[in-house]
Amino acid sequence: MRTKLRKVVPEFELKYKAELAHKINKLKRERNAVILGHNYMEPALFHSIPDFTGDSLELCRKAAQTDKDIIVFCGVRFMAETAKILNPEKTVLIPSAKAGCSLAESITAEDVRNLRRQYPGVPIVTYINTYADVKAECDVCCTSGNAARVVESLGSDRIIFLPDEYLAGNVAKETGKRIIFPTKTPRAARDSALEYELIGWRGRCEVHEKFTVEDIENIRSQFPDTVVLAHPECSPEVVAASDFSGSTSAMIKYVTEVGAPRYLLLTECSMGDNIAAALPNREMLRMCSIRCPHMNEITLEDTLAALEQTRYVVELPEDIRVRALRSVERMLEIA
Ligand code: 13P
Ligand code: SF4
Repeated sequence: MRTKLRKVVPEFELKYKAELAHKINKLKRERNAVILGHNYMEPALFHSIPDFTGDSLELCRKAAQTDKDIIVFCGVRFMAETAKILNPEKTVLIPSAKAGCSLAESITAEDVRNLRRQYPGVPIVTYINTYADVKAECDVCCTSGNAARVVESLGSDRIIFLPDEYLAGNVAKETGKRIIFPTKTPRAARDSALEYELIGWRGRCEVHEKFTVEDIENIRSQFPDTVVLAHPECSPEVVAASDFSGSTSAMIKYVTEVGAPRYLLLTECSMGDNIAAALPNREMLRMCSIRCPHMNEITLEDTLAALEQTRYVVELPEDIRVRALRSVERMLEIA
């Protein structure tokens, strides 16, 4: 751990974190558990305990394939729920009960039922950043890694895309579709004019909505050769001003494969640390005042407690799980 992390984790923390990681890895083997770690995990955790790391789509696939008895999901609740949707017989643990997500909080199952009534027959795509009861009301899930592909695979004139306003805007741009956002009282004349193809929702990621075009301009005025990478939960304006946009793993792949003097990632700042640790020859600029408080709830201490105390167990009502599974499986078949 020292060799890899000495530039991103202070020396006084390293020994303490290495001891925690050692205990977790021992217990993981004893309890026949697998640990999945999202790309946003802090560097000492990311580089020590997960059996698999990745973006939402990759971890979803790993969760579908595991033969272990216990899945410990070092990520946020909607991700752990997806693992449970795919593995009803297994024990799925999330180290913190507080690891939510502003996108998942932005829409309810009742909102989706209302949209179905408002737009009968229109297929509904939901971003994976939603809770199981919302997935259960939708037709198919998508992630940042496959959103445009899922939308295009439906071959439908009109599609409802929930709940991320900015991801929907970016998908609309990529697929050449016009987008509207429904109001509480539908505008019948406009709705019947069929002048749009994608129907969005006003949810936002509380992290990615904070990045601005001005941030990019400021960085470029100081370091003109910076390659800027933006997650598609950033606004379409920010994505347009960037050099590359893709899922968290697509950003890591880009930095790994494309040599540049320096990079700026417009996403949770731990990812810059994790890449800097893995690729010490890459210069990563970071805007670390913008953090995801939910992802940062997941610590080595709580992961150890999760395995020691079998907490916090993710449970879902079976009828909701079965309906949500259809949306997740459909996505896995498409992309
Ligand atoms: P990825 O699927 O790209 O890892 O994104 C998950 C997420 O929550 C980004 O904020
Ligand atoms: Fe949710 Fe945004 Fe945090 Fe990702 S970064 S988990 S979308 S709040």
